[in-house]
Amino acid sequence: MAGRIPADFIDALLTRVDIVHLINSRVPLRKAGREYQACCPFHDEKTPSFTVSPQKQFYHCFGCGAHGSAIGFLMEYERQDFREAVEELAQQAGMQLPTDGEAIHTGPDPRPLYDLLDQVAALYRRQLRQHPQAPRAVDYLKERGLTGEIAAGFGLGFAPPGWDFLLGTLGADAQVRERLLRSGLLIEQDGRCYDRFRDRIMFPIRDRRGRVIGFGGRVLGEGQPKYLNSPETPVFHKGRELYGFYEARQANRTLERLLVVEGYLDVIALAQFGITYAVATLGTATSAEHLRQLLRGAPELVFCFDGDRAGRDAAWKALETALPLATGRQQIGFLFLPEGEDPDTLIRRAGRDGFEQHLRTAAPLSDALFDRLAEQVDMSSLDGRARLATLAKPLLDKVPPGVFRDMLGKRLADLVGVARNRLDAGAGAGRKGAGPPTPHKRPPPEWLAIALILQEPRLATQALGLDDKWKALDKPGIRHLSELLARIAAEPEVTTGRLVHHLADDLDERYLARLTDPALLAGIPEDGREAELLGAIGALDKEARDAEFETLYNRPSPSELDDKEKQGLRDYRTDTRHGKA
Ligand code: UTP
Ligand code: MN
Repeated sequence: MAGRIPADFIDALLTRVDIVHLINSRVPLRKAGREYQACCPFHDEKTPSFTVSPQKQFYHCFGCGAHGSAIGFLMEYERQDFREAVEELAQQAGMQLPTDGEAIHTGPDPRPLYDLLDQVAALYRRQLRQHPQAPRAVDYLKERGLTGEIAAGFGLGFAPPGWDFLLGTLGADAQVRERLLRSGLLIEQDGRCYDRFRDRIMFPIRDRRGRVIGFGGRVLGEGQPKYLNSPETPVFHKGRELYGFYEARQANRTLERLLVVEGYLDVIALAQFGITYAVATLGTATSAEHLRQLLRGAPELVFCFDGDRAGRDAAWKALETALPLATGRQQIGFLFLPEGEDPDTLIRRAGRDGFEQHLRTAAPLSDALFDRLAEQVDMSSLDGRARLATLAKPLLDKVPPGVFRDMLGKRLADLVGVARNRLDAGAGAGRKGAGPPTPHKRPPPEWLAIALILQEPRLATQALGLDDKWKALDKPGIRHLSELLARIAAEPEVTTGRLVHHLADDLDERYLARLTDPALLAGIPEDGREAELLGAIGALDKEARDAEFETLYNRPSPSELDDKEKQGLRDYRTDTRHGKA
């Protein structure tokens, strides 16, 4: 796997690309004052609220809150991951990604594996048409109600019976045989090699770029194991990949919704009936990485599970994994199918409209959460309801602070029937001050200063000359603020678009979203912002001095102070007398 891309490279890249040019080639922009505008490509709207600033090298939508740098735009708009976006921009900018050195540490070049997997997928597809045994496979697919067109769309193939189809077709070359082993297509045991997939329908698994990275293979009819899957390989990681994601993105210009189902055949049957936005995990639980990709992929996410016990457990696991990522900005729903039914059978019975009607009955995450908890206690007794609160608290604490968590807290309080603030005292107390607050509250000075600087780096010029006692303050945000100032001191022309990538490593995406949201500064007039920033830093400085004074003052005797400290104490007193602090 390729390693991290150095921060310096990203910074240099962003100085070379122009976000206006980049976005304009995809979403035509119109000039409006110092900025450019368009109808937002990320949500439906009639009047433009999507704004691109050449000064900031940053985009922001006042309607839906989408925002980011040139890299962020490619990630959102083209659904690329970070690395892909950087690669594409680097190519445009004529820059070479510094990967060569890393390749030594990160294992052999994976490209030959991709090529081989692609070649094998083609080979399996061909067997589905040509192999003497192919009619059995085709009959099975027909019996399952799949059309030839949909089978072709998902690249289905056939691994013929026998132990040495791949081995015999491709394995003569020692290097190829080694790659077949490395990609899990051949198994080596007691010094002998044989094909992993035999007499199975083959489902190629593609990554987000459409490259084949592994396979699932199903028996024709009954038999165990029903599915065999490629093992983890250098290019295939089950916890990261979603079956059907590539196909869904191909089928839809923008994805309004993603539906997560359990089986390969569910994805395919749904697509055949026009629901082209379903994906499946690869026989594993939904991972946090899956969720991040899904949430980035579409504004609405519906998990669809079987109504049986295993389905309910899987739903619960998915829900728990979703909590830390739930901001309420995206809808996450849970749909339970009637016992004995799966998406494949349901879509065949109900058709697309019927199925989508059913989707509308999905329980929102909050309902699914409280329903499940309420099942475990006796809601008619006081004790039972108290227990509900106990069960819910650690779960609510996983939700990022913000409107959505507040809403869950209120809902819990209503259910439990106690005063709201009693619950608040417990829930999330440990996180207090861990990040910037929600926009409706005025942020504490350190976060206000960060927001001002991020959004208008030039404001910081004056602030660079200020006292910096505040840097000694021990609270979140101080380090970020001082890093931002250092960055600007080194390069006054740095843009918002580049600064966010400096913070992206150790500041959560949710916080960055709020800090770069112009709404946070809406109450401060343009020409008052510099003063506001100076005031915020001044307030921090005072806080630091007060803290220092407190420490010095509480020492048993002044003789224990060293000279520097004595001077500090004198300065403090003079300052306060002159009303400076
Ligand atoms: P299902 O049994 O629901 O599979 O398992 P399905 O795709 O709907 O297949 P049909 O309709 O019975 O033909 C859900 C998923 O669990 C994984 C596969 O990813 C499958 O798609 N699985 C299942 C395995 O990996 N191995 C198995 O033996 C069974
Ligand atoms: Mn099924």
